[in-house]
Amino acid sequence: MPTRAPAAPPPARTARELREAAAATHRRSRTDSDVNPLREGLRLERVPDPCAFVLFGATGDLAHRKVIPAIYQLWRTNLLPAEFSLVAVARRPYTNESFAAEVRASVEKYSRVQPIDEGAWAELAKRIVYQQLDFADDAAFDRLSTRLDELDKGCGTAGNRLFYLATQPSQVTEIVRQMGRAGLDHEMRGGGWRRVIVEKPFGRDYDSARLLNHEVNKVFRESQVYRIDHYLGKETVRNLLVFRFGNGIFEPVWNRSYIDHVQITMAESIGVEGRGAFYEETGATRDILQNHLLQLMTLVAMEPPSSFQADALRDQKLAVLRAVCTPTAEEIRREIVRGQYGPGWVAGEPADGYRQEPEVDPESETETYVAGRFTIDDWRWSGVPFYLRAGKRMPKRATEIAIQFKEVPLRLFRDSAGDPAPNVLAMRIQPDEGIMLRFAAKVPGLGLDVRTVNMDFAYDSSFVVDSPDAYETLILDALLGDASLFTRADEVEAAWSIVTPIINSWAEVPAPHFPDYAAGSWGPEGADHLIERDGRRWRRI
Ligand code: BG6
Repeated sequence: MPTRAPAAPPPARTARELREAAAATHRRSRTDSDVNPLREGLRLERVPDPCAFVLFGATGDLAHRKVIPAIYQLWRTNLLPAEFSLVAVARRPYTNESFAAEVRASVEKYSRVQPIDEGAWAELAKRIVYQQLDFADDAAFDRLSTRLDELDKGCGTAGNRLFYLATQPSQVTEIVRQMGRAGLDHEMRGGGWRRVIVEKPFGRDYDSARLLNHEVNKVFRESQVYRIDHYLGKETVRNLLVFRFGNGIFEPVWNRSYIDHVQITMAESIGVEGRGAFYEETGATRDILQNHLLQLMTLVAMEPPSSFQADALRDQKLAVLRAVCTPTAEEIRREIVRGQYGPGWVAGEPADGYRQEPEVDPESETETYVAGRFTIDDWRWSGVPFYLRAGKRMPKRATEIAIQFKEVPLRLFRDSAGDPAPNVLAMRIQPDEGIMLRFAAKVPGLGLDVRTVNMDFAYDSSFVVDSPDAYETLILDALLGDASLFTRADEVEAAWSIVTPIINSWAEVPAPHFPDYAAGSWGPEGADHLIERDGRRWRRI
């Protein structure tokens, strides 16, 4: 790949001139892969404004595994402007060079495209700036503010700043308060936007999420706040919107008249991966159900938005969350199941139980599995159960949305061999991304035997391009000012209002006898009873 021109625009240029220069640099440095004919008709790429990307928690796990590799990938594919700075902020002492060397190792380890493009890396490394900062230190925030102003002049970042809070959730309020005190939120007249990305979990329950929203909105306007749920950036999740609203034939049957029920599964084969202390505070309900699973449910259940503008989309998602029936204490007892894995075998390897994981209480009552039956009280979905389940240490990694249609009204083929099963539309979010439709077909021959067959669309064989990582998509969207794939304050609160009664109700009763499922199994028996009581079964994935 050709090396980019070094970024050194003269300070006197206006923001508009700088943007035009960035676009010109971008056009000049396009590579063969950018004009790949297979990409014709796919995403129209835009380059963000010149800007500084300010990463709080830059020495942490999330920054090294996800955020910095995503930045590198965006840079490598010319999706960032030439006038760009990655300002890494954390407590530990580093120089710009020593920090760049350390993150290079992470990029080598976690980047989805290998080997590292030396030319692109050298150019990105020149734009990495390290700023040591203690979150409680007022003067350090003032120094950060001065440094960002200097970068605007020296690197042409034009006063545009995207702050990414990849820190412990408990530090968010303090950082945001300090940013407000140091004026880091102030947008400048005639250019110079300020945006902030906040990582999940956003609060621990309804009250803490409301308080956090209040604190964040004291400093930033809601339109400046980008709450990230990385599931919304996944290619197949975004495809769900295209599938539903870009095709004419599915929407007429997407309702209670045709759909029997919906199953959403997020199974992980991994355990807590060294994050025992975090997980002890979180559990599957806060970690997955409150955000990833409920977000997937909103995309399945929402009404068509009038456009894909952020608020049009989020208004419809919010309407779904508000229509979800809050479970009563009795419903929680009968319809929401929690579990915890004990020792077992996953993919032929022995696996410890959750209580044996580092930093986990040997008597822990934290759930590593949750399943529930939810209903949406609206015209489209009344009476259609949504079964949601998520668990760690399942037999395999699989995230899937399955729409199970009703049986045919008259079973004409009941006497033939192989009475057909109801239609299922399964959307595989990961891995083996794709969509499968199950329907009945006649077995070739003189008789009238019927068999269920699958029609399968697989992403990798249909498009010969790699999908971006969710963090690449979401960071680029935030840089472009598109908040449609980020959750709004009211959405987060509505999701907590569904989950909080569950957590509170569990706190009042003794936990089930944990551990109650073996690592490498599909979860506790109670989860099977939950769905079997309704005469249905979990799909075998
Ligand atoms: C995170 C959770 O949000 O999502 C993790 O905190 C989980 O516990 C992860 O492992 C799963 O993400 P993915 O993209 O690997 O499905």
